[in-house]
Amino acid sequence: MTRYTDDSRDRVRDAVDMVSLVSAKTDLRRAGVDSYFGICPFHEERTASFHVSPGKKLYHCFGCQASGDPFDFVMQTEGLDFTGALEALAGRFGVQLEAEGEDPAAAQRRQRRERLQSLLGRAAAYYARYLWEAREAGRAREYLLGRGLDEPTLRQFRVGYAPSAWDRILKASRGSGFSDEELLSVGLAVRSRSRPGQLYDAFRERIMFPAADARGRVVGFGARAMRENQPPKYLNTADGELYHKRRQLFGIDLARPAAARAGRMILVEGYTDVIALHQAGLSNAVGIMGTSLTEEQVGELERVVGVLELCLDADAAGQDAMMRAARAAAGRKLELRVVPLPQGRDPADLIQSEGADALRALVEASVPFVSFHVDRILERADTRSAEGRDRAISELKPVIAELAPSVLREEMIRRVAGRLELSEGMVESVVAGRADPGPKGSGAGITKRGALEHGVRAERTFLTLCIALPAEGAAELAEADLDELLTSDAMRRAARHIAERTEAPLESLPSDDEELARLVADLVGRAGRAGVVSAQRLRHARLVLERARLDRAIRRARAQGREDIPDLARHREEILEEIRGVVANLERAV
Ligand code: UTP
Ligand code: MN
Repeated sequence: MTRYTDDSRDRVRDAVDMVSLVSAKTDLRRAGVDSYFGICPFHEERTASFHVSPGKKLYHCFGCQASGDPFDFVMQTEGLDFTGALEALAGRFGVQLEAEGEDPAAAQRRQRRERLQSLLGRAAAYYARYLWEAREAGRAREYLLGRGLDEPTLRQFRVGYAPSAWDRILKASRGSGFSDEELLSVGLAVRSRSRPGQLYDAFRERIMFPAADARGRVVGFGARAMRENQPPKYLNTADGELYHKRRQLFGIDLARPAAARAGRMILVEGYTDVIALHQAGLSNAVGIMGTSLTEEQVGELERVVGVLELCLDADAAGQDAMMRAARAAAGRKLELRVVPLPQGRDPADLIQSEGADALRALVEASVPFVSFHVDRILERADTRSAEGRDRAISELKPVIAELAPSVLREEMIRRVAGRLELSEGMVESVVAGRADPGPKGSGAGITKRGALEHGVRAERTFLTLCIALPAEGAAELAEADLDELLTSDAMRRAARHIAERTEAPLESLPSDDEELARLVADLVGRAGRAGVVSAQRLRHARLVLERARLDRAIRRARAQGREDIPDLARHREEILEEIRGVVANLERAV
């Protein structure tokens, strides 16, 4: 675990603005010099007995006796340890940390990252100040307040405004000692096309929404146009050293504590939606910013909550987005539910016109994803013709077959029977028929499955690809520690058998191991149906297993209280980075 210098800790304490820190959790009212009061965030109460002293950087509750400094506050409210709290505060208030005794290369990488983060943090602070103070930001303020967003919430999200002049950020950042290279690499500046060598501010005359990582460190911006004829509507930071669109969840830093408490997260499309929900008291909300939910985002969410409430548009595009979200979450622990938004309304507008309670009621009325999926198939089905009903039932079959016996399953069967005018027994028997697993790309993989089974599937994919690409497969298998990499004994036996003969895996199967024979035959069959395979896909499958191996190793190390967890974690980060690289390549290839 990194240990930071005492000096770093003191500099962070100095930089913390207690009022803005505590205001994110409870409203504060000024009560005198260096004195604010609010409702205590640590216990239930009606009267404000929570006292904050911004000058002394301390808080104290006269009701429950909770008290401490900024680090205690973050540790208590965000469930972080001291180092985590220190890092979070350093990021949020733009302080560069120094670690004790770190190897030089790692130190350099960390310093680089922290410098870029601090550059972005300063820019965010600059834009925010500009929004509230500059004359030319008047229209933007009016616009935001006119959308029903209030100042404290906008400040909490550090919403800002980018000046129309071409060089404000450039000048301010250079003045603080940042280089052009640094400005370019975080996307705050761009090169002029007409005047080589000349840079100018990337964002001008736009409302700035800072995108932060889970610890509140700014990594990029979404910038909304304010004028007509100022495309695009939103200009976003391009992917780079710090910003990765696929990993980004807008509002995650502010939503995580509430979501962890509630066990669920609400997923919306836009920046304004997230802010409006937080303001309405639904602070367990994050945004995917108009794109589709990615596996990286699912992974991030899965660590915080068990349930994800999809609160996306009810139009066709939104419905497709929900289907894609389900695909991204396939095989994960995350349970998806669908919030029934009225057509053509987004959450921010709904809250403004109908009030927060209306939206809260809709979220409470969310349905399991399967139920949404079944309804969607039924709605699209042509129920007048026999062919139409047959088509619908074959589409529904894999969806319902995935459900364990349950009230929900019964309900789905009743719904299908009613709609297609079949007896429930008929639907039941069609659905129960194990014969046809459905064509590739049907709904089969979409509904929730256990994490364990997911692991087994990843192992199966890897071995399938080893057979489909015999030469590369043999090399991968020879190199791997199969006992570590694979989790079931049958898979290990299969892998050892295949490793010797990736060209002809069905040869020399032992006659006394029926399980092995069945498994190998199944894998060979899958390899035959695998379609286009590439070394990249094999590499990906291998990396996925490596990542799972490291997850297991880390869990074990934790259980044993071992100290080598950071090494394992670092290794896991490297693997994740590699996975991202391979995925990007794969996507470019299609
Ligand atoms: P919307 O067009 O619905 O925007 O796109 P919005 O959030 O409702 O914005 P307001 O309310 O008009 O201000 C939804 C989200 O898609 C992303 C943004 O994150 C936006 O919040 N988006 C949209 C882009 O990234 N680029 C675009 O050009 C448009
Ligand atoms: Mn909108």
